Amino acid sequence: MGPKFHQRRYFYYLSGASFPGCSVTYDIARDHLILWIPYVDPRNVLWYGKSPSTDDCRAISTVDDVRYISGLDKFLYTALVPGSTLFVLHPEQKPKLESTKGVVNIDTVKLRPAMDAARVIKTDYEVAMIRRANAISSAAHKAVMSRLKKLASEREIDAIFSGFCTAQGAPNQAYPIIAGSGPNASTLHYELNNEPLAGRQLVCLDAGAEWNCYASDVTRTFPISGTFTPEAAAIHAIVTRMQNECIQRVKPGIVFSTLHLHACIVAVTELLRLGILHNGTAAEIFNRGTVTAFFPHGLGHHVGLEVHDVSGPQRLLLGATAVPKGRRGGAIGKREVMTPETLAVMYREALALSPWAAPKGQQRLEKNMVVTIEPGIYFCREYIQAYFLDNPTHAKYINKEVLEKYYPVGGVRIEDCILVTDDGNQNLTTAPKGDEMLAVINEGCILY
Ligand code: GLY
Ligand code: MN
Ligand code: MN
Repeated sequence: MGPKFHQRRYFYYLSGASFPGCSVTYDIARDHLILWIPYVDPRNVLWYGKSPSTDDCRAISTVDDVRYISGLDKFLYTALVPGSTLFVLHPEQKPKLESTKGVVNIDTVKLRPAMDAARVIKTDYEVAMIRRANAISSAAHKAVMSRLKKLASEREIDAIFSGFCTAQGAPNQAYPIIAGSGPNASTLHYELNNEPLAGRQLVCLDAGAEWNCYASDVTRTFPISGTFTPEAAAIHAIVTRMQNECIQRVKPGIVFSTLHLHACIVAVTELLRLGILHNGTAAEIFNRGTVTAFFPHGLGHHVGLEVHDVSGPQRLLLGATAVPKGRRGGAIGKREVMTPETLAVMYREALALSPWAAPKGQQRLEKNMVVTIEPGIYFCREYIQAYFLDNPTHAKYINKEVLEKYYPVGGVRIEDCILVTDDGNQNLTTAPKGDEMLAVINEGCILY
């Protein structure tokens, strides 16, 4: 058997069809969308089963017409009059058009940005899908919490989460489950999920299921014993404050990168209070970017058909001045490490913002965008040592003795999917947090 089928997201966006061998055409002038599906030979049913018929497709999708793909060539021959333009996503997807009547332009550049601009603003249907994905993931997080004290390993957490989602009709995860305990919580994309929980303080569970190809992205960080150690409680409280204050500020018109900067300011203030940072004022330490030792990733990203969804023509975190030469699009996102240098660029861009001028490449939030707000504080010994403690610019602001006490905390991240509404936002993630989370861990719960 080959790898599991995964529908291309741009294709699914236009067609709603999640099975192989299809095409889709859209006649812009006529506003007419046709899904072209394969005829399935009965021999193939023996191996791969049936795929939907034209009637099945009409029932599940709002396309204007559904036809068998064997008629596509003839359709293109008729539809593409000389001088017309055919827009395709990728050069390798150009149809063979020898049989057209005259010259047809084939454009492989303009379709993708046009679709990205559409995809970044979610329709009500898409919001409903993302909400459903979040509801299942939130219940799965709750299932893990309610059994946590009986669990012995990261593997069991992974198994309970994915098993719960599958049983709820969501067999696909939007990304590999991250169930990192102790120091593993400081690895942002930890995927091994194969270590015992014994003797560790926290487990960071970043896991979200898909619903009808739409993603969710949810993180909670649990005390394994049911009670936070004083150090873990302090870090969890800081991340909670970073997240609450950023979520409160989500509304149309906000430049997302200013929320990231706000989270950094909260982190600097609170890490100074704990004594992990010292030897300078909050402003001085913020300006050096030393906080990126502990909060080394972006505050969030768009969520949609992909967990790190497209951002359209602008960028959520860093604007035009941060785009490396020769690189276009919204690629600098959460996955990019936030370094002292990138934080400085972000701050410079924020200072240049004015209410009267459009930001240079950074994105203002708009109604019906869905973004994550996912601050974190991590204690990754290797990373902090190599780039901060070994660098005198930063080392002087970090108290090594105090920091030693916090390495066993590993890391804390809290992540929700937030819908931008007319005048504010709505949290699509309902997994318990704070005291409610502790109550589920310690007292259990009825899942439904
Ligand atoms: N789960 C990947 C992320 O949080 O972006
Ligand atoms: Mn995320
Ligand atoms: Mn996540």
